[in-house]
Amino acid sequence: MLSYQHLYHAGNAADVHKHAALALALDYLTRKPKPLSYIETHAGRGLYDLDAPEARKTAEAAQGITRLRAAFPADHPYITALNAQPGGLYPGSPAIARALLRETDHLHLAELHPQEFAALQGSLRGANISVHKQDGFTLAQSLCPPTPRRGLMLVDPSYEVKADYTRIPKWLAGITRKWNVGVVMIWYPLLSSGAQTQMVAALQRAHPDALTHEVRFPPARAGHGMIGSGVFIVTPPFGLDAGLAHLSGIFAGLT
Ligand SMILES: C[S@@+](CC[C@H](N)C(=O)[O-])C[C@H]1O[C@@H](n2cnc3c(N)ncnc32)[C@H](O)[C@@H]1O
Repeated sequence: MLSYQHLYHAGNAADVHKHAALALALDYLTRKPKPLSYIETHAGRGLYDLDAPEARKTAEAAQGITRLRAAFPADHPYITALNAQPGGLYPGSPAIARALLRETDHLHLAELHPQEFAALQGSLRGANISVHKQDGFTLAQSLCPPTPRRGLMLVDPSYEVKADYTRIPKWLAGITRKWNVGVVMIWYPLLSSGAQTQMVAALQRAHPDALTHEVRFPPARAGHGMIGSGVFIVTPPFGLDAGLAHLSGIFAGLT
């Protein structure tokens, strides 16, 4: 039974980090005209109303997009994706990808939660978008290597299922064996409990050429365990490290 709903957390500091890193990676990849595959294992609902009661209840966007938006240059690909959304809604990662990708690229989006899946189907339509009500890890395995072969996969679980921490390194080994040219971006929280530490160490041992990028921020509320956000990127596009270094500077203002 899945209980996590991203609307309570949309636009928080972790979302800004993950979505800005994703936008940078897609910006580098789309500099070449060759078509891309975009695969997302945990898509969420696609678009978020930050004025909805759920988002207002936690007010996590206050420390995230509300505070950080002005720190981004107007031509940053994340800002381009934000500006492309209807009615000022906050874009989840699938909507960011749709804003930055081209008609020749194909998006595969997996979402298991029935309500989130229905909302995703409503918010992201298009001839080049396939929405799957399926376990994202299994879908990704069955799609790899995708057509087109160039592309990016975002893995963004809520880690509600604690087994994800041990599952991901083994699963990723299977993905990279089948798709050695794919850019794979795995998001993880930095928790005060350190629950992510072993997973990150295992990923780094297995993929020594991958990029790890982490930012820290104060907890959204007293006692909240998330104190930062990380992305682990296999086969990073050339130049991404410079974009991520700039992102570190933006987050330095939060600590
Ligand atoms: C952190 S949210 C995704 C947020 C989204 N990637 C974004 O940045 O806008 C995680 C989502 O994964 C869904 N989910 C959980 N387990 C899943 C699974 N095994 N396969 C696909 N979706 C899953 C949850 O219902 C939730 O909507």
